[in-house]
Amino acid sequence: METLLNVPQGGFQLQRLPYRKNEKLKAWDAADEYLLNHVYEQVDLTEESHVLILNDKFGALVCGLHAFNPVAITDSWLSQQATRSNIASNNLSGEDVILKNSLDWPKQTFDLVLIKIPKTLALLEDQIIRLQAVITENTIIIAAGMIKAMSANVWKLLEKYLGQTKPSLAKKKARLIFVETNTSLQKSIKSPYPVYYQLEHTEYKICNHANVFSRDSLDIGTRFLLQHLPSNKQTRKIVDLGCGNGIVGLMLAEANPTSHLYFVDESYMAIASAKESFSDAFPEIKADFYVADGLTNFEAETVDLIVCNPPFHQQNTVGNQIAISMFKQSYRVLKKGGELRVIGNRHLGYHIDLRRIFGNCIEVAANKKFVIWKVIK
Ligand SMILES: C[S@@+](CC[C@H](N)C(=O)[O-])C[C@H]1O[C@@H](n2cnc3c(N)ncnc32)[C@H](O)[C@@H]1O
Repeated sequence: METLLNVPQGGFQLQRLPYRKNEKLKAWDAADEYLLNHVYEQVDLTEESHVLILNDKFGALVCGLHAFNPVAITDSWLSQQATRSNIASNNLSGEDVILKNSLDWPKQTFDLVLIKIPKTLALLEDQIIRLQAVITENTIIIAAGMIKAMSANVWKLLEKYLGQTKPSLAKKKARLIFVETNTSLQKSIKSPYPVYYQLEHTEYKICNHANVFSRDSLDIGTRFLLQHLPSNKQTRKIVDLGCGNGIVGLMLAEANPTSHLYFVDESYMAIASAKESFSDAFPEIKADFYVADGLTNFEAETVDLIVCNPPFHQQNTVGNQIAISMFKQSYRVLKKGGELRVIGNRHLGYHIDLRRIFGNCIEVAANKKFVIWKVIK
């Protein structure tokens, strides 16, 4: 796979994360190239310019605009790690770049704001509303993305909160959107996120920041999983892997009252949501919350139970690689005799990979759409 991004700012070696042998996908897209070319040719930047980059996937934009010491905000831990590692492998100084997460915005104002359109429209809305506090009438705002990711709602949100928009020509299926910044629009509007709902048949109030899976109501797959959670009175170490808003871990804590819960997700907003949902439900119980790539931070053979509703995409990239990597990590981290319980859409066929990795696989429950499997180490 091609790893050298050639743009007017220079040539940059870029790798995706998680790192995979025989990676077939590049660590940047045509929208990144278009944006970097446009900024180089059309935007007057000086050493004093303040540049903000939103949702850079693997650091292509940060590396390209490194000379301006940009601030970069993302909700993805993997994106942040990839950016760090690409900065280092191109011998750029990491100290000049400020990497922030989606709930930790800078207080200063910016001269140039570049927005890569994220997969989740709610995240875009949250970011655009937060953006109002860090722009001035003179801020240049450019959004960029692959045309297939630019629904009419993307344009509507930009126009509602930031100003009139103008499209660029399409290039390699990518487009830029130029915003005529208008700071008099909607100034006093606060982000509607996080949003809350009450988990059915319980008193639990579930917190959902903008980028959280099924943020408005209980997902039907998750609902099915909640009906088939293991319960045990023994003290055990339990991981809610890919926890989103933390519902699964919360109900595991209820069904396993003496166990210790670990919540893991690569989204900062997911972990913030899970933390709030859990501490609201069980203020007196301690749990651990990790923003991380799956179980990479866990020691081998230390966990009794892992429950997982795996993601079927990493941002805009679809595939079951993340699920398989989570199954392999689970095998390493589980104690002998420990259990991994997984829910998946019937057509994803996770049982084939589970059986290959664990050597066993039992169907716990199934309905028309979903199957729940249990494997034992
Ligand atoms: C299908 S959602 C499940 C959310 C929640 N457990 C539920 O059932 O409602 C999958 C979750 O996995 C998270 N995720 C994706 N890639 C991950 C990774 N590499 N490590 C940890 N979590 C990841 C996503 O952010 C998302 O919250």
